[in-house]
Amino acid sequence: MSRSAHPAGPRHADVLPEGHYSAPPADLNVLDPKVWAQTVSRDADGVATVGGMDVKSIAEQYGTPAYVLDEADFRARARAWRGAFGGDADVFYAGKAFLSRAVVRWLHEEGLNLDVCSGGELATALSAGMPAERIAFHGNNKSVEEIRRAIGEGVGRIVLDSFQEIVRVAHIARELGTRQRVQIRITVGVEAHTHEFIATAHEDQKFGIPLAGGQAAEAVRRALQLDSLELIGIHSHIGSQIFDMSGFEVAAHRVVGLLKDVRDEHGVELPEIDLGGGLGIAYTSDDDPREPHEIAKALTEIVTRECEAAKLRTPRISVEPGRAIVGPTAFTLYEVGTIKPLDGLRTYVSVDGGMSDNIRTALYDAEYSVALVSRTSDAEPMLARIVGKHCESGDIVVKDAFLPSDLAPGDLVAVPATGAYCRSMASNYNHVLRPPVIAVHDGEARVIVRRETEEDLLRLDVG
Ligand code: LLP
Repeated sequence: MSRSAHPAGPRHADVLPEGHYSAPPADLNVLDPKVWAQTVSRDADGVATVGGMDVKSIAEQYGTPAYVLDEADFRARARAWRGAFGGDADVFYAGKAFLSRAVVRWLHEEGLNLDVCSGGELATALSAGMPAERIAFHGNNKSVEEIRRAIGEGVGRIVLDSFQEIVRVAHIARELGTRQRVQIRITVGVEAHTHEFIATAHEDQKFGIPLAGGQAAEAVRRALQLDSLELIGIHSHIGSQIFDMSGFEVAAHRVVGLLKDVRDEHGVELPEIDLGGGLGIAYTSDDDPREPHEIAKALTEIVTRECEAAKLRTPRISVEPGRAIVGPTAFTLYEVGTIKPLDGLRTYVSVDGGMSDNIRTALYDAEYSVALVSRTSDAEPMLARIVGKHCESGDIVVKDAFLPSDLAPGDLVAVPATGAYCRSMASNYNHVLRPPVIAVHDGEARVIVRRETEEDLLRLDVG
């Protein structure tokens, strides 16, 4: 993964160590619009602003660390996804990326549907008024209680993930006197080009029913026999942080192949196909994600072409982007604490959060960028590693990045593109309190998820 070491040294190194970095950017003060939320810029004093609010005021009012989310950007991205497919497809936002009641309301207002994968996500969605019929319920090990609640509330679809679940959901639907709309999640044998732990469509894994060996066809056979299930389609999710559409192409080809087999065997044309989520975003300036309209065009063309070849009516497509909607809309705002230059290596910059608010670097070797946001600086770049305050040396937020060499304790730095899978995967490791999510819009900031308090921690500890 390492890119070439850059010959121009920071103040503490003559030769830069191996790492995940390219040359320092020409101007460290520039906030690359590729990785920052849409309304981010700098004011006349050089302080970064978002949604018309400057980050120093946000930090003063709400403290750090904090996730700062650009509501206009979130809505714009949701709308772009919705608009890209027009009326021909359904967009289900994947709530696992980040879910709160405000987010549910924005999605509802922008005409998106919602994918949930636990009772907790379902409860959040329902409590914020998302109509149950616009919710898809996922998961490889849904509990009986979760299934009962989902069916009882009238969720639009349950995505069946195993043979046992086909029977379980059918049984509960019958008990509740309803016919539940379901899809079957299959694994099509495509391995997305991404980190092993987050690639999900190859067969040696816990999700879905393999297409290989006729298992998916058998699952369809069983589901079609059960009166309390209405099988509406086939689901495939091939992985995460994907830039290359060829994986979707192979997946669509195989899913359509199954639809054709189902038509040939049962005389039934299943009306829907869900291609999942997984579309990549820019975490650093080196990433080049595709726009929703390009993705929509590519997916629609692939499915249409495959169906024409198989002489099938084109099914209604649905997609489940999570990261691609919320990821770029937020950054994590930290205050700089201890700064520790290590000669010949790099400068360790400690911030007031860490792996508890962003586990992705430690878990997936994820790459992020960082910038000084409380001021600009013309000092020469230094190679920095942004680390947290946890008792663990793997507590790294940004492995390698350049920051101005006059960085000082009390400065504010921000890590962009942390809207997805950061707050939702946050922990209380070391009893560090989880940061709030502050939504900014048109010069106003409001807390949509408040900061955790010691009282919150102690409330769960019943002694
Ligand atoms: N649909 C299904 C069935 C999924 O399993 C997922 C993600 C999505 C949609 C949304 O994928 P997205 O568009 O957000 O990539 N914690 C990992 C990602 C795990 C994703 C799991 N499933 C990370 O931080 O990268």
